[in-house]
Order: sequence, then C-alpha cells, then structure tokens
Amino acid sequence: MLPDSMPLADGAAPRARRRHLLDLGGWSRTEVSALFDTSDVMAQVMQRTIKKVPALQGFTVGTLFFEDSTRTRLSFERAARAQSADVIGFAAGGSSLSKGESLKDTLLTIDAMQADLYVVRHHAAGAAHQIARWTDALVVNAGDGRRAHPTQALLDAYTFRQHFPDFDGFEGKRLSIVGDVEHSRVARSNIALWTLLGAEVALCGPRTLLPAPLGERPGLTLTHRVEEALEGAHAVMALRLQTERMAKGLLPSLAEYRQRYQVTTERMRLAHPDALVMHPGPMNRDVELEGVLADSPRSVIEQQVANGVPVRMAVLYTLLVGSR
Ligand code: CP
Repeated sequence: MLPDSMPLADGAAPRARRRHLLDLGGWSRTEVSALFDTSDVMAQVMQRTIKKVPALQGFTVGTLFFEDSTRTRLSFERAARAQSADVIGFAAGGSSLSKGESLKDTLLTIDAMQADLYVVRHHAAGAAHQIARWTDALVVNAGDGRRAHPTQALLDAYTFRQHFPDFDGFEGKRLSIVGDVEHSRVARSNIALWTLLGAEVALCGPRTLLPAPLGERPGLTLTHRVEEALEGAHAVMALRLQTERMAKGLLPSLAEYRQRYQVTTERMRLAHPDALVMHPGPMNRDVELEGVLADSPRSVIEQQVANGVPVRMAVLYTLLVGSR
C-alpha cells in the first residue's frame, strides 16, 4: 500500500530541482512569459498540415500514470511525438504493481529503458518529487494528489491570455474558482500562478470544501456565496467534486450543492461581460457547471484541452533542450 502523501523533504533536496517541473514554486513572471512565447511557436506548429518538427529527435519521454487521466496523458504524448521524441507509456492498470511491485522498483525498471524525461501522475502528494530523487531523468509533475498540477495551471493561464492578451501580467483581472477547492491540485497550482501574474483569485465553495489556510496570501479571497465570487470575474473556473480524494459526509446533499454552487448562465450575468467559463476537466455536466453554459460561446473548455498540447510541447522542449 502506498502512502497517501510522500515527504517533500527527507534531508536532501531533490537532485538539481530546477531541472524538473514539480510545481510552480520559485517561478518568475519572466519565466512564465517565456514559456508562453514558446507555446505560441508550438501552437503555430499545430496549425500546420504536417504537425511535426524534429526538435526532440533522439529524446525519449516516459509517461508514468499511476492514476487515471485522459487529457493530460494524451496531450503529453501528442506533445512529445509532435516534436519527434520517442514515447514509452506506463499505466498502473495492467502493470506489475498488481503483483506487489513497489513504486521505486517500478521506476527503476522503467528507468532501465533509459528515458530522458518522465511525466508523472500519482495519487500521493509528493510522488513526483520522490521519483525525481530516484532517477537522473527530468521529471514533470502531471498531478500529485491534491498538491499540484502545474501544466494544467499553465495551460489555463495561457488560454486566458489568448482572450485578454494585454499580458504584462494579469493585474486588474479576477479569476473565480468555484467548487471543491479542498481536494483540487488544479486550484492550488492556479492560485500560485494567477497570483504570481498579478490577478485576484476568489475561491468559493461550501465550508467543508474550502480550507481557510488557502486564503492567507495577497490577492486571494474566500467566500461561501457564489454570487459574491462571480461579481466582476474575468474567468470563472468550475471544479468537480473530487470524490476519489474526499472523505464521506462533506456534503449535505448533491441537490443542495447544485442549487447553491452550480455555475449557471444566470449567475454568469454577475461576471464581466466578456468573462470566460473554464473547467480543467473531467466535468460532471449539470453538477458543478450547467451543461448549456459548458456548450455556450463563453466556454473555453475545449480550447483549454487544445492548448494543453502546445503548452506541454513548450514544457518538454524547454526542459529537454535546456538539459543539453
Ligand atoms: N485536467 C486533467 O488533469 O484531466 P485528466 O485527469 O483527464 O488528465
């Protein structure tokens, strides 16, 4: 049985930590801006008839998914192959984990096949950090427990920037995150990134799903009233109830949750007239987000998915070519 979280500090910092993308701690606005500029170049590649460049020829990317994924795994694989990297894929289901092999032995087995970079998703917070200690390859965190999902936040902010392109930072812009913030690594990474870029972030959800300590930083507000959260927002991000990480009894009833916290067309009237509707996916339609609103022109949900490819291309390119 793997622990629910892994220690982030065991007396030794992860080797050459800045070579990895484990979270967004320590990033500067300049680094984000440079990554977005590289993403713009990658987005042009994805507009071509032949969506392939030789930029990462000779490199091997390993996708290590110990937890389920659709968007993140496929877009990393697309991002690697579009740059001519080789890809080796591992998914927990169907692997020898079921025969009792440990995380470390699984990693050492895959590492013997000599990848240059691992994209890691794991249900335990700190798993990507731990793997970075066991390998000489680069590591990108593709979601660890409720702790961090840095490339999701990067693609979310990149999508926002396409609609509000006066990008000296996001000063004067307001992002509202509504739903199960407590269990959300997407929320934590977006809070870190959008406040770094100068935006205000409003968090909204029931008391049981909105931890107070997240509110203790400049630019961040907490509210239990969705109308207050949406007031003047330039982007509204709905989060699903992450029942896979949730203890029982945190919600009175699903009907009451919908009634009080669902992001609806009616409630969006309180937001900025050009406000975007965002969702990191997977979505539980008509629970956290009204289905017709998800399908409306305000919704950029599919654009978020599409932007996952050029942003992840930029991440792979920056780390791998930078490592040479
Ligand atoms: N947003 C996200 O991480 O989606 P997947 O779980 O499908 O990768």
